[in-house]
Amino acid sequence: DEDDLDNLQDRPPVLTIMGHVDHGKTTLLDYIRKSKVAASEAGGITQGIGAYKVQVPIDGTMRPCVFLDTPGHEAFGAMRARGARVTDIAIIVVAADDGIRPQTTEAIAHARSAGVPIIVAINKIDKEGASDRIMQVMQELSSNGCQPEDWGGDVPMVQISALTGQNVDDLLETTMLVAELQELKANPDRNAKGTVIEAGLDKAKGPVATFIVQKGTLKKGDVVVCGEAFGKVRALFDDAGKRVDDAGPSIPVQVIGLNNVPFAGDEFEVVDSLDIARERAEKRAISLRDERILAKAG
Ligand code: GTP
Ligand code: NA
Ligand code: MG
Repeated sequence: DEDDLDNLQDRPPVLTIMGHVDHGKTTLLDYIRKSKVAASEAGGITQGIGAYKVQVPIDGTMRPCVFLDTPGHEAFGAMRARGARVTDIAIIVVAADDGIRPQTTEAIAHARSAGVPIIVAINKIDKEGASDRIMQVMQELSSNGCQPEDWGGDVPMVQISALTGQNVDDLLETTMLVAELQELKANPDRNAKGTVIEAGLDKAKGPVATFIVQKGTLKKGDVVVCGEAFGKVRALFDDAGKRVDDAGPSIPVQVIGLNNVPFAGDEFEVVDSLDIARERAEKRAISLRDERILAKAG
């Protein structure tokens, strides 16, 4: 938008970790965040999109970035698509001992169709025999449209162990270099706009949605419309569940106060009044209903 050009400011990169089931996405993020999410997941499977703001040390200074963790299970294709849509860079994790698998190829396709740069993390290199497999994995990646930088292509590849942390600093440095080239900026001083990455119904809180703010700053008390849902933001929670007053560009935030559960993937926008929000939500509901009727008829 034109009104943004006057006040563009640096924003943290949004980095989405994608790849086949059990290739080590959550373990990688655990290492980066110094947390232990993977161990506590039911069946060891990530169920939703996790969004985390992390300070990463680069050249001795701490730099903020936002990581999205996505599930690798085949049932969660739509989530990978959503992750790819809101991300600046896709980090695709491939386990060296398992190689390219269906959800690896799917993740590559999502990143390519979203037009975002890919960085490959070849993971589990601590495993016995893994180093013998790396050439083959790189060849498989090449024949799937990911030509390694080392072979004259455009995809940086870093060999890591998410478990021991080996070379994870290299991966982060590579990622931040790619992010710097993108010159990521947004205007924090406008009505917020962004995307719903997850939503559900909480017994105590009612409809709860996780937003990624992409422009502007979302504040407590703002009126938002997202898809067919709308409402006044009653409270905002950061990725640690702590109440916050606002969230600026790139920041993931959980929102309560909506009248309904929006759809993940819906865009949200702050508007000037509840009347406007209601009207927009109703229009959207009608057009969606028409689409459904047309789809059925067609
Ligand atoms: P989904 O979310 O279910 O798609 O899996 P994920 O990609 O998040 O994989 P997760 O982090 O849950 O790891 C799967 C298994 O691989 C766990 O048992 C991890 O401990 C193990 N693992 C992950 N990274 C490494 C690694 O670098 N080396 C070794 N040896 N094991 C690893
Ligand atoms: Na897993
Ligand atoms: Mg996981």
